[in-house]
Amino acid sequence: MPARTPVGPIALWRSQSGRAAASADRCPHRGMRLSHGFVRGEALSCIYHGWSYARAGNCLRIPAHPGLAPPETIRVPTHEVEECDGVIWVAVGEATAQPPRLQGVVPLRSLTAHAAVAAIEAAAGAKAGVDGFAWQPQSKLQIRLLLVPQGAEETLIHVLLDDDSSLSQRIAASRAVETLRRTAEDLETKATAP
Ligand code: FES
Repeated sequence: MPARTPVGPIALWRSQSGRAAASADRCPHRGMRLSHGFVRGEALSCIYHGWSYARAGNCLRIPAHPGLAPPETIRVPTHEVEECDGVIWVAVGEATAQPPRLQGVVPLRSLTAHAAVAAIEAAAGAKAGVDGFAWQPQSKLQIRLLLVPQGAEETLIHVLLDDDSSLSQRIAASRAVETLRRTAEDLETKATAP
């Protein structure tokens, strides 16, 4: 699937053995998006001419030249990936720490806000750390939000909820975060109005 990081778009994929991997979303051959490609076994293959790449980024196979061992110079840039408590963390550059533990919560949904992180923090009245922030829009509803900037004025919001939440709490959390998004977008619009 395609995903965005501060250093550019990536193809996020899971190999047959279940391990997550992150490759730059551009095939070194002719530039096709690798997120349009497909996974076979432990490799990600480009949809255009079928070149396949390992998790480490080295080219494994060029179908038009089946007898050729692809040279080491053909590589796709990759990122370190860590899967922890249901969240996939992608390092942009060298990972300097383990991802924070988010025990007792499960991912509910993700949504994009056309607002900067600061506008979302202002709308929620909270400040995000590496493990996001806890938000309680109403009693008995505890939500954890992870904020991922997607450029200057767009943020991906990952919503996590206590793992024993009822269906009605999940629905309420989903609606509360949509309201938060609208409030943040209004704040962003006011802040950027001429
Ligand atoms: S563009 Fe990817 S294999 Fe040709």
